[in-house]
Amino acid sequence: MFFDPKDGMRPPPFKHTVYNALVIPRPIGWISTISSEGVINLAPFSFFNSLCGEPPCVMYCPNGFKTGTGELKDSLTNVTATGEFVFNMCTQDLLEQMNATSAHVPASVDEMAEAGLAAAPCEKVKPPRVKASPIALECTHLQTIDLPATRDDNPNTMVIGQVVGIHIADEVISDGMVDMAKLRPLARLGYLDYAVINPENIFSVKRPD
Ligand SMILES: Cc1cc2nc3c(=O)[nH]c(=O)nc-3n(C[C@H](O)[C@H](O)[C@H](O)COP(=O)(O)O)c2cc1C
Repeated sequence: MFFDPKDGMRPPPFKHTVYNALVIPRPIGWISTISSEGVINLAPFSFFNSLCGEPPCVMYCPNGFKTGTGELKDSLTNVTATGEFVFNMCTQDLLEQMNATSAHVPASVDEMAEAGLAAAPCEKVKPPRVKASPIALECTHLQTIDLPATRDDNPNTMVIGQVVGIHIADEVISDGMVDMAKLRPLARLGYLDYAVINPENIFSVKRPD
């Protein structure tokens, strides 16, 4: 089949918006920020990725408003105000807490504490990292790009940051490498589905040159 996205994202026979199931698996950027009032915010973004390695840069996309409020998402408001954010890796054991932090709550709520997560201080930026997350990237804001929007009540943005500090838990370093089998990172699929990178699904392939 073929369809033009201008005609909507649920052409027959699809029961739900189909686009999120088409680019998979997506890494989850679990983004911590801090408001100008000092309130910690934490939220998952699967429109997230690493953009380059030297120097390392990442991006996440706060799209739409907080449900029923017409307010921008706190992860966008905070990075605009303070210029800093932190990527926290979401692993299998943190699934429940990650999901809890996707709730739309007032900006005055500390979402890390609300999800029962301990915060750990960062070295170079003010927002804390999730202590239980094995990998965290401290980032400074480079640019926010407005992406096309189909409706006024659904703005799309891309926040780009440069990684200025890297935390890797000692427990996930084996033999001079990051041990994927120990990390068990979560990936987002379409709909409400997720996948975990399990040791039996990991294999290596040599490049031709
Ligand atoms: C796994 C997962 C991935 C998500 N990815 C995105 C995303 O890429 N962009 C987005 O705007 N919202 C995404 N959401 C919804 C946000 O996490 C949610 O709107 C959150 O409340 C935003 O929080 P904030 O207002 O604290 O920034 C995702 C939710 C989940 C559970």
